[in-house]
Amino acid sequence: MEKLQYGNWIRRKILWVLGLTSLALVILAVLPLPAVVRILGVVLGAAALASFLYPLYSYAMFSPRGGNIQEKFYDLILNHVEKKSVGKVLDIGTGNGILAIKAALRNPAAQVTGVDMWGKDWEYSKSICEQNAQVANVAERIQFKKGDAASLNYADGTFDVVVSNLTFHEVKLVKRKSDVMREALRLVKPGGSFAFIDYFYDERYYGDSAGFELLLWSLKLKNVEIKPLQDVLVFPGLLRHPRAFGKIGIVYGKK
Ligand SMILES: C[S@@+](CC[C@H](N)C(=O)[O-])C[C@H]1O[C@@H](n2cnc3c(N)ncnc32)[C@H](O)[C@@H]1O
Repeated sequence: MEKLQYGNWIRRKILWVLGLTSLALVILAVLPLPAVVRILGVVLGAAALASFLYPLYSYAMFSPRGGNIQEKFYDLILNHVEKKSVGKVLDIGTGNGILAIKAALRNPAAQVTGVDMWGKDWEYSKSICEQNAQVANVAERIQFKKGDAASLNYADGTFDVVVSNLTFHEVKLVKRKSDVMREALRLVKPGGSFAFIDYFYDERYYGDSAGFELLLWSLKLKNVEIKPLQDVLVFPGLLRHPRAFGKIGIVYGKK
């Protein structure tokens, strides 16, 4: 059977650049060149290699053929939203559409929408989303649309369930990423549920965590929880680095 194309949170382009740079510097170090050039090659080559190996490891851990961590994130999100049959589901920043497709597979009556900007920064596309939906046999209940998470073209309360994974912090034109989360919450109907994973504990995006919690409580939601990801998901210690998953959390609840 044809496989779903997950894509990867680590861009392959970055791995190629880092890998080839490391290789070039290592070659420089072994060529019969002046000692100073070779020493420079060793030092820079070692640094480049170190900065290549961690993303390479992460890539393997995220991939379905490796540690399959992407799948674990999607399942975690879907385990935190309404499990009974739901009507309309929205996935914001859908990438290759896997979370949206999994939502459709879990809820056979649901109509699912995945939105994304599909910009040049990422290796995802609308056409891969549509191909994936065909492969998963849910194409007739799912639509993929180009849209900016900063301001989505839907009326308040359009969706029974709104989910999003690792997208809010990517919305470059909005400084306070909590405004992107608010826009997502605007689209949840009263009584509907939501679950978002993002860098909620990273001050650069959400300010200090006490302030962000206060903001969450002030939103007049029926209930809302925030948890560090490492409290609810088991993943390798190497990925707990703050630049990996150390500052990631899940926000979920009901409106
Ligand atoms: C880390 S990827 C996550 C993709 C997907 N949620 C997943 O978990 O596989 C971030 C996604 O955010 C999307 N994105 C970035 N800025 C966006 C914006 N302003 N509006 C909608 N999507 C955006 C990117 O195109 C990319 O698909």
